[in-house]
Amino acid sequence: MFTATDFPNLLVGLGAPDDAAVYQVDETRAIIQTMDFFPPVVDDAYAFGAIATANAMSDVYAMGGDVLFGLNIAAWREDLPLELLSEILRGGAEKMREGGGVIAGGHTITDQEPKFGVAVTGMVNPQSIMTKGGARVGDILILTKPLGTGILTTAGKNGSVSESNLENAMGWMMTLNKNASLAARAVGIRSATDITGYSLLGHAYEMAYASDAQFRFVLNQLPVLDSALELAKQGSIPGGTARNRDYLRDKVLLPEHLSDEWEALLFDPQTSGGLLLAVPIEKYDALRQEMELREVAHWRIGHVLHGSGIVVSQSEI
Ligand code: CO
Ligand code: CO
Repeated sequence: MFTATDFPNLLVGLGAPDDAAVYQVDETRAIIQTMDFFPPVVDDAYAFGAIATANAMSDVYAMGGDVLFGLNIAAWREDLPLELLSEILRGGAEKMREGGGVIAGGHTITDQEPKFGVAVTGMVNPQSIMTKGGARVGDILILTKPLGTGILTTAGKNGSVSESNLENAMGWMMTLNKNASLAARAVGIRSATDITGYSLLGHAYEMAYASDAQFRFVLNQLPVLDSALELAKQGSIPGGTARNRDYLRDKVLLPEHLSDEWEALLFDPQTSGGLLLAVPIEKYDALRQEMELREVAHWRIGHVLHGSGIVVSQSEI
């Protein structure tokens, strides 16, 4: 049987799972390849296309690369108007353009449940790849988007969220992680991932595990989307939350007497979430400057320690 070690050009593959596969072409160039697709998360077809595409492109940015082009993958129910599919594709194509890439084709099948996503090809210099495994003890943890998109989109489906709060969440989901990635690259950050379906704690755990370190988060420093905690309290909790919590049960230490809504937020599956960056302390000020220059939101939410797993503390001690 062939294994990844038979293919030395495959710099990142299934061996130590990361955000995307990376395949070295020559000294200075490696291809990044990733794909993601899912059922509609919002009613607005154009916005869904843009969100799904921003989400798919995000894995290229999490690896420190540039997006070149993408191929659409769609599933469509025959009795649904084709104009809606066109709107999804238009939203995706325009988001791809915004990132400097182009949609080069795609494929649609018929299916009972509509789905949309993109297979994205990017490029990176092998010297500047950002992986999950590069975090070091003492690093500062930075997050670039607020949490709670799973709660907000669930509330959107049952109509219990205000229009302005849902639009705010959609704006964040449509925001490309490109500028955050460029800022990180400008100061030589080597460890990052993007926060998506496995929640902040799930993706952070992957980074901590790959880096052989412990990540500690401070609850009152986490950025939260407007109304997310209230909506979680009212029961707008997506199905993936319980799966994330069950998987991570013995890997995370939570504060005592943590409220149900905060717990729901920590395990909330994100769509097109922000980058989580492990930042060496001597690069922190330079990174903040690069982010402010590029108008990238950023929150300092914790740090990296000796040990393993994730610890969430109520406040900084
Ligand atoms: Co990812
Ligand atoms: Co992905």
